[in-house]
Amino acid sequence: MTNPGLEGVVVADTRISDVDGERGALVIAGADVEQLARTTPYEGAVARVLAAGGADGAAITPAAIGAARGAAWELVPRLGDALDHPDAMDALRTALGHLRATGDDARDAIAAIGAAPVVVAAWSRRRARAEAIAPDPGLGHAADYLRMTTGAAPAPGAVRALDAYLVTVIDHAMSASTLTARVIASTASDLISAVVGAVGALKGPLHGGAPGPVLDMLDAVGADPEAWLIRELAAGRRIMGMGHRVYRVRDPRAAVLEEAVLPLASPRLELARAVERAAAKILRERKPDRPLAANVEFYTAVLLDAVGLPREQFSATFAVGRIAGWSAHVIEQRRTGRLIRPASNYIGARP
Ligand code: COA
Repeated sequence: MTNPGLEGVVVADTRISDVDGERGALVIAGADVEQLARTTPYEGAVARVLAAGGADGAAITPAAIGAARGAAWELVPRLGDALDHPDAMDALRTALGHLRATGDDARDAIAAIGAAPVVVAAWSRRRARAEAIAPDPGLGHAADYLRMTTGAAPAPGAVRALDAYLVTVIDHAMSASTLTARVIASTASDLISAVVGAVGALKGPLHGGAPGPVLDMLDAVGADPEAWLIRELAAGRRIMGMGHRVYRVRDPRAAVLEEAVLPLASPRLELARAVERAAAKILRERKPDRPLAANVEFYTAVLLDAVGLPREQFSATFAVGRIAGWSAHVIEQRRTGRLIRPASNYIGARP
């Protein structure tokens, strides 16, 4: 029996995160995602997940992450045409490929975590025909990312919301991109290669590519979301931001992001709630045996839009947060894992 989606296949023991798809719960390195997002700045969550993976958490400080953003700025003039890619994920993948792996995983992880917001913001500025802005290593990761993108000092509310977002998406058990990173690490390859491969896996709309299209949907639904959604399904398209491989109830991260966006008074929040209700109702009617509820991308779209990031940058912003999780998994895989090499069932001709 083949199992092409590997559902239910357990490939690792992990201390980094746990998803309970039936209850709709996510634990990240010992804390509920709700609590972590409310109480811990991104840098603290980075230290927490890397330590859970087996790194020395004490060495992972806001100053070290800020210094890594500063070091990445030196890389920007040497990126060639990487920042000209029309797609931010392609730019990020290419730019991260310029990092030199040292073989010290914790060090390489910090370098990649620091580089991501710098190159994504530089890509965004290039697209807007504006000068790239140098990082300020003294700022928090979320604040600096916003500042480097928009060119203005970000509002404290926007920084808090983006910080909560980055924490919320920091890790999510054996997602497709995380498995990709672990497969690469399992061959004893380096952490930078694993992170570059994971960016490629995250790019697809079935994984991290959905939030931009969710915003497109909110723009397109008009006054009658239900009619629009029915037309989409009739055209054979999926409703972006709905459904999940593991969750059979609403993704708990949707609630965390919905709460985080509240203080920003987004004009899109009420519409998003109405579209979510309509989509859940229609999908329940069409697929009574397959619960399909909002996933993380639904309110990601509302939140990232409300903090002032352009939609073309949403998936790359997911990567900015998730690099820490991938890195933790690389470190853990190396310490406890084994070469990942499954089997296939040959159905071709035999000699
Ligand atoms: N809209 C409409 N129908 C959907 C759907 C959606 N968002 N998600 C799943 N379905 C349908 C499928 O078409 C399938 O129907 P079928 O049995 O008639 O073919 C059924 O529900 C089961 O879907 P399946 O493909 O087995 O689910 P999966 O576990 O492989 O998919 C996702 C999970 C996330 C890929 C899927 O729900 C999806 O494509 N969602 C939209 C994209 C998205 O939001 N991605 C971000 C994920 S965090």
